[in-house]
Amino acid sequence: MAFWASVLIVLVTTVLVVLYRLGALRQRRVNEPPLDKGLIPWLGHAMDMSRDASSFLKRMQERHGDIFTVQMAGRYVTFVTDPFSFDAVLKESRSRLDSSKLVFHLVFKAFDFRGQKCHGNIMQKSAPKYLMGTGLVGLTQAIMDNLQILMLEPDADKRPGPQQWKQEGLFQYCCNIVFRASYLALFGNLPINGKTGHAEDWLQSQKVFERFREFNSLFPSIIFSMLLPMEKKEIRRLRQFFWDILSPQHILERDDVSAWIRSAQEQQVEEGVSEKAQSQFNLLMLWVSSSNPGAASFWTLLFLLKNPEALKAVREEAEGVLRKMGQEMRPGGALITVEYSMLQQTPVLDSVMEETLRLVLTHFLLRTVKQDMILKMDGGKEYALRQGDEVSIFPFLFLHRDPEIYPDPTTFKYDRFLNPDGSRKVVFYKQGRKVKPHMLSWGAGTTVCPGRFFALNEMKMFVFMMVTQYDIELVDQDVKIPSVNRKLFGISAMQPIQDVQFQYRIRF
Ligand code: HEM
Repeated sequence: MAFWASVLIVLVTTVLVVLYRLGALRQRRVNEPPLDKGLIPWLGHAMDMSRDASSFLKRMQERHGDIFTVQMAGRYVTFVTDPFSFDAVLKESRSRLDSSKLVFHLVFKAFDFRGQKCHGNIMQKSAPKYLMGTGLVGLTQAIMDNLQILMLEPDADKRPGPQQWKQEGLFQYCCNIVFRASYLALFGNLPINGKTGHAEDWLQSQKVFERFREFNSLFPSIIFSMLLPMEKKEIRRLRQFFWDILSPQHILERDDVSAWIRSAQEQQVEEGVSEKAQSQFNLLMLWVSSSNPGAASFWTLLFLLKNPEALKAVREEAEGVLRKMGQEMRPGGALITVEYSMLQQTPVLDSVMEETLRLVLTHFLLRTVKQDMILKMDGGKEYALRQGDEVSIFPFLFLHRDPEIYPDPTTFKYDRFLNPDGSRKVVFYKQGRKVKPHMLSWGAGTTVCPGRFFALNEMKMFVFMMVTQYDIELVDQDVKIPSVNRKLFGISAMQPIQDVQFQYRIRF
C-alpha cells in the first residue's frame, strides 16, 4: 500500500511539474496585465508570432488593449502598445528591466559565442567613442574612399560618360555595395601589393559578401531553432570562414582598420580574451553593423525611383551641396568626394531616410524583468510584472505605423519629416499630445544603437552617390513594391521576396 502511495505521489508531482513547465498552471494574478496563453500548452502563440507578428499583435491589441502578456514557446512576453507608455519601459533602470540576458542567449545561438564582461563594455562604452563625434568623421571618409573603389573606379577608364546602361537587381546591388563599403571601412583594406591597386580588396570583399548573404539567409532558422541537419553543417562552415578572415591575426595584416575594431581588439588582448573569442566577437560586430544598412538603402532607392518628384528633390539638393563645396560635375571632371560636413546639409535626404526607416524596420525592443515590479502606464494605471518574464515594444506597428501619428501610414511621403520652411520636423502628435519619442528606429535607453550615426552616414552617402553620379531608373516603372519576407520580422529590416530590376549608367 505504502509503495503504491509513493508511486502515486511521484506521478502526481511529475504531472504537476510537467504542467507547470508547460505553463498550464500559470494564472493571471491581481494587477497583472491580461494573460493570453493560446490553445497549445507551452507553445502558446509562438506559431502565430513567427507566421505574421504584425497581424497577430494587432489582433491581441484589439482583444486586450494597451498591455497584455502572451505565452510563446515557454516564454511569457508582455507587450506594451501605447506609445505614451513606452518611456516607462525604456527609461526603467537596468536592475529591473535589462536586455543583456536575452542578447547573451541570442548571440550564443546565432554566433556560437559566449560574450564576456569586457564585451559588454566594448559595446556600450567604446562603441560610442569611435562611432560618433570625431571618430565618425574618419569613418565617414573611409566609407567614401571605399564607395569610390567599388562604384566609380571600375568604370574610371571609360569616363567621360554617359555610357551604356547596366541592368541589375536593385536589392542585390544595394546590399552588395553597402555591405562591402562598410566591411572595408570597419575591418580595413588589404595591403596594396605592387600594381594590383584595389583589385584584391574588390575580389575579397565580394567573396565575404556572398558568404554573408548565405549566413543571413539561414539566420531566421537559427533564431527559431529550425535548422535542418544539412543547414547546421552549412552554418558551421560559414562561421568558420568568418572566424578565419576576421581572426586577430588577419586583422593585424590589414591596412586602415577602423579605430573601433582596433581598440576592441586591444581591450580584448588586455583582458586575456582568447583569439577564437576575438574572431567570434568580430563576426558579431560584422553582423550588427551590416545586416540592416544594405536592405534599408534598397528601400530608399526603390521609393525614390517610384516617386520621381522625391528623386528630383533629393538630386537637386545633393547637386546644390556639391556646387556649394566647389565640386563640379562635368564630363571628364575629377571624381566627386562627399565629405562628412556635406551630409549635415541635406534635410530632404534626411527626411527620405527617416521615412524609409519608419516603413521598413521591424525590430522588437526586448527587456527581461529582473525582479517583480510595478509598471506605471501613461494613464496612471499600474500593472504588476513578474520576475523572469519579458517586456517588449514593437515600434513598427505601435508607433511607426500609427495612423494618428503618421496619417496614411503605409504610404511613402518623402517630405513627411520636413517642416514647411524646409527644416527637419521632429514634433508629431497623437490625440493632440506630443509623442516622445516619435521614432524608435535605433532603439532607446541604455541599449540604443551606438552605430546609428555611422549607419545613417553610410546610407546617405551611398544614395548621394547614386543620384549624383548615375542616371538610374526602374526597368519597369509600373513594377509593384514587392512583398516582404515575413520570417525576418523582428530580426532585421524588411527584405523583398523578389528583387526589382533597375538600370544605371555613369552620368559624367
Ligand atoms: C540601418 C542600420 C541599423 C539599424 C536600424 C540598427 C538598429 C539597432 C537596434 C534597434 C539596436 C538595439 C537597440 C535596443 O535594444 O534598444 C541596435 C543595437 C546595436 N547596434 Fe545597431 N543598427 C544599425 C546599424 C548599426 C551599425 C552600422 C553599427 C556599427 C557600426 C551598429 C552597432 C550596434 C551595436 C554594437 C548594438 C548593440 C548595443 C548594445 O546592446 O549595447 N548598428 N542597433
